[in-house]
Amino acid sequence: MANIKFFTGMDIPLELHKVRMVQKLNLQPIERRAEAVAEAGNNTFLLKNKDIFLDMLTDSGVNGMSDRQTAAMLICDDSYAGSASFDRLEAKVHELFGTDFLLPAHQGRACENILAVAFVKPGDVVPMNFHFTTTKAHITRLGGTVAELVKDEGVKTTSDDPFKGDIDLDKLRKFIAETGVERIPFLRIEAGTNLIGGQPLSLQNMRDVCGICREHGIMTVLDASLLQDNLYFIKAREAACRDMSIREITRAVADEFDIIYFSARKFGFARGGCIAIHDRKHFEAMRELVPMYEGFLTYGGMSVREMEAITVGLDETMDEDVISQGPIFIEFMTKELIKRGVPVVTPAGGLGCHLNAREFLPHIDDHEYPAGALAAAVYLAGGIRGMERGTLSEQREPDGTEPIAEVELLRLAMPRRVFTMSQVLYAVDRISWLFENRELVGGLRWVEEPSSLRFFFGRLAPTSDWQEKLVKKFRADFGSSL
Ligand code: F0G
Repeated sequence: MANIKFFTGMDIPLELHKVRMVQKLNLQPIERRAEAVAEAGNNTFLLKNKDIFLDMLTDSGVNGMSDRQTAAMLICDDSYAGSASFDRLEAKVHELFGTDFLLPAHQGRACENILAVAFVKPGDVVPMNFHFTTTKAHITRLGGTVAELVKDEGVKTTSDDPFKGDIDLDKLRKFIAETGVERIPFLRIEAGTNLIGGQPLSLQNMRDVCGICREHGIMTVLDASLLQDNLYFIKAREAACRDMSIREITRAVADEFDIIYFSARKFGFARGGCIAIHDRKHFEAMRELVPMYEGFLTYGGMSVREMEAITVGLDETMDEDVISQGPIFIEFMTKELIKRGVPVVTPAGGLGCHLNAREFLPHIDDHEYPAGALAAAVYLAGGIRGMERGTLSEQREPDGTEPIAEVELLRLAMPRRVFTMSQVLYAVDRISWLFENRELVGGLRWVEEPSSLRFFFGRLAPTSDWQEKLVKKFRADFGSSL
């Protein structure tokens, strides 16, 4: 993104790329959107792309690729073993992280499976700033649990703390003393903490946390899936790092950790997964699991085309103009919504703009899923697909009780280099309209509730005729507009 002052006083981000390949979108009329959301059981995961205008479900595997990435995909080396495409990827990861070993996997959660199978045993506890759904699932499946040590500010939806993803060092010391190192297989830090609104950690916090772990001989693991946003925030928000290049910050981060894994659906702007390792003994502890679960050691379930795209994508990630696009668009959208009184998570993080559903819809009980209802309503209002990140995404306890999520958010992800400024402004417009009419929105109840991963497959229905009322109000306010 370019830091441009406009003669006309406009205050908008300016993209430093041009779009050279496009995909046609459909904006269905609201009556069709009402049918589509009912067909999808009010679950945005079950909507079809043909009914979606702005797909803000996720930034995973859907980022805009560059001309250089697409070109690299044509000169890949298609061999089962010893592919030159893997060698190029391995060399790039070594260049950026300084790690000596690389294990490939088909995506981020596959890396998590390998790490968990190699290191977690029943009774273990894995400390982390905050869990991610798939990370936690792999650890608990093997009889372990997770301990969240993010600082208290992290779960406050509004704040001016620039690094809400930081680990609380006192909580960490207390946790180690109480748990005992033998039950701690590793500590995990998630850069750009996903579930609390894409919030970054400071380099200083990573150094302090890893320092404490080294004192106790605890292995450290970085989930770098959202590192690109976090790198940008370290440079933009951490005074001591202002004069460092993105490459230098990347290396300083990587030097702290024993193992770094990432979903290349996010980090690398393509599709795949990697585990980068400093120490041979950690590499050997995981190596045999790759051919067992993923594929041979020189592809690990990834296509060679994707490996080439990741290699170029990682290189482009070192360019501040490239990685700033996501956070700056998100900050723009967040500020525009704040101007109109819409409750959002602050400060703006990476990944997407996060609406605070509990404040947006205070009249909806937590057991009627404010964030799920908001996801359905935002789709109705504008054909915009977001992702519920709240109680619906939690799992029931074995006795059937439903844990209420700490934060109840609707995530509107901003895949990088995908949306235009007018599309972002359209989203702001429709969300602002919905906010004005928020009292019309009602809750949701289960129609089909699967016992696990209910947010992926479950089906819900509105608790009243609120969706019909919202459609009527839309027509009254917008006439025949789409
Ligand atoms: N770690 C983090 C921090 C993630 O955000 C994700 C995926 C994963 C691991 C798993 O990687 O999808 O390649 O298997 N996040 C996606 C999202 C699904 O929409 O936020 P994966």
